[in-house]
Amino acid sequence: MTSPQASPVTSPVSPTSPLELPALGFGTYRLRGEAGRDAVTSALSLGYRLIDSAYSYENEGTVGAGIRAAVESGVVDRDEVIYTSKLPGRYQHREDALATVAESVWRAGIGPIDLYLIHWPNPGQGLYVEAWQALIEARDRGLVKHIGVCNFLPEHLATLERETGELPEVNQIEMHPAFPQTGGVGGTLDWDTAHGVLTEAWSPLGRGGALTSAPVRSAAAAHGATPAQVVLAWHRALGSVAIPKASSRARQQENLESLQLELSAGEVDAITALGRIDGRMKGQDPAVYEEF
Ligand SMILES: NC(=O)c1ccc[n+]([C@@H]2O[C@H](COP(=O)([O-])OP(=O)(O)OC[C@H]3O[C@@H](n4cnc5c(N)ncnc54)[C@H](OP(=O)(O)O)[C@@H]3O)[C@@H](O)[C@H]2O)c1
Repeated sequence: MTSPQASPVTSPVSPTSPLELPALGFGTYRLRGEAGRDAVTSALSLGYRLIDSAYSYENEGTVGAGIRAAVESGVVDRDEVIYTSKLPGRYQHREDALATVAESVWRAGIGPIDLYLIHWPNPGQGLYVEAWQALIEARDRGLVKHIGVCNFLPEHLATLERETGELPEVNQIEMHPAFPQTGGVGGTLDWDTAHGVLTEAWSPLGRGGALTSAPVRSAAAAHGATPAQVVLAWHRALGSVAIPKASSRARQQENLESLQLELSAGEVDAITALGRIDGRMKGQDPAVYEEF
């Protein structure tokens, strides 16, 4: 079985095998229980192959059940799916981290986790290097296949490389038109790209808030596309892998069809110019924000 997703992106920094991500993934924050399981199975049946979860979302069981259902019904082979989970801030000590990864594997029930990320650096805690070493250990023990981080600023990434000699394969960051992470606002996308770290964009639609601006609406009208498709095509043009969450099959399909949309350079620039220094949705600056 093959995925309809074109243009995969590859991380060259892995010391093991390179990680290849599809150009679009699927977010699952707040998808829970039976409806959540069915949403994940639906997304896989449409062609999504990158599925995002986290220990803190309390839905690893739900997401794992959705993947199992898709595999058992022949919709997808298990080894085509990149299932992602994340280590919460309260478990960054080595022993806690290793126990949490093992618990994540158990909860999902689909074998080793394809991609495991540190959820936030929590720099005030001073433990993210220890957590990164624990993820390296978890990978070397075979609990997870690939490792990365979320919400790491360039200074945190540089610290990981200096202290451990290994950069993450993926950095999943807040990125949407109000906070584009390039063009002078944020800038983590630029750092990641220059260092071979893949960028995933969380809240890529700004939780719906990114869909109403004039540049997005005019590009949508020009291409006969929807505003969500325009924003997702903008992510792809900048080189980030968006992971939109959508409950309904219709929106899952709509978002996937953004892969057929190519924006002009002018349209991309006009959307990037929407960025504002204070454009983060909840002001969660990883330099100071603490997540537990
Ligand atoms: N690493 C981190 O720190 C972090 C933080 C936040 C999120 N994440 C991950 O990133 C994923 C995506 O972020 P998110 O869920 O915060 O926000 P998002 O994907 O930007 O937006 C999701 C919202 O947009 C709606 N939506 C989806 N497709 C749409 C469409 N085509 N037209 C109009 N509205 C549409 C969804 O509604 P319906 O669901 O009702 O369809 C939902 O309300 C999360 O689910 C999670 O997996 C990671």
